[in-house]
Amino acid sequence: MKKLIIAGNWKLYIEQVEEAKKLGLALKRKAASFSGLDMVLFPPAPFISAVAAGVKNSSIAVGAQTISSFEEGAHTGYISARTVKDVGATWALVGHSERRAQMLDGIKAAAETEETIQAEMKAAERAGLKVILCVGEEERDPSGAHFATIARQLSSALAHFPKSGAKLAIAYEPVWAIGKSAAEACKPADLEEMAIFIRRTLSELFDRTIATKIPILYGGSVDATNAKELLGTGGVSGFLVGRASTDAKSFIELLHAVR
Ligand code: 13P
Repeated sequence: MKKLIIAGNWKLYIEQVEEAKKLGLALKRKAASFSGLDMVLFPPAPFISAVAAGVKNSSIAVGAQTISSFEEGAHTGYISARTVKDVGATWALVGHSERRAQMLDGIKAAAETEETIQAEMKAAERAGLKVILCVGEEERDPSGAHFATIARQLSSALAHFPKSGAKLAIAYEPVWAIGKSAAEACKPADLEEMAIFIRRTLSELFDRTIATKIPILYGGSVDATNAKELLGTGGVSGFLVGRASTDAKSFIELLHAVR
């Protein structure tokens, strides 16, 4: 069985460095008793350095919630892959739905396109960062169009990614399941079906043996109450957790649930 990866995407839930450090340290204290899994924390960018310093000498890794598609130059306000690496990140999220170009509450929320996602993948790879590539459909329909959406997102983002497939994990995060209650998460049987589809798509993009080694995670309203059941089908080997990862108690409960 693949080693579990439990990643915490703190999004914008944590706004103070002391809170970020405290959460990192609380998890570090527990890390040794969860040696069967890898934890990765994604704090807001300004806290990467402090959280990375706090979890040093533990099995916990730290990552960036996003990186710029630009590698250097006159790009005000952007943060490059090399910069986040320099302050302690070893992972980056790429293509999170909250950053893909879309309208949210009538506001064009972010502007990551298939082209910028490809450029981010390249920037991460050149900086030596590991990537969790996020894919997910906005809605499901009975005709199964969501499978085509996932295939397109994967093949576009991975078009120029090294065929070794090293340093890559995929997070399946259906947009409709993010930020809801545990009961509204993807159903285990649907998750298993999608994980099989993602694995099959990966084996068209990479060598078959390599494709079987790429971890597939799930994200979308995961917490201690549904984690075990979602893992149960064996389709995914971990989670990318939002809300439930931003509080030490709920994160540790989740770790207990999957152990
Ligand atoms: P929630 O766990 O809050 O639904 O967020 C999932 C997610 O978007 C993780 O990247």
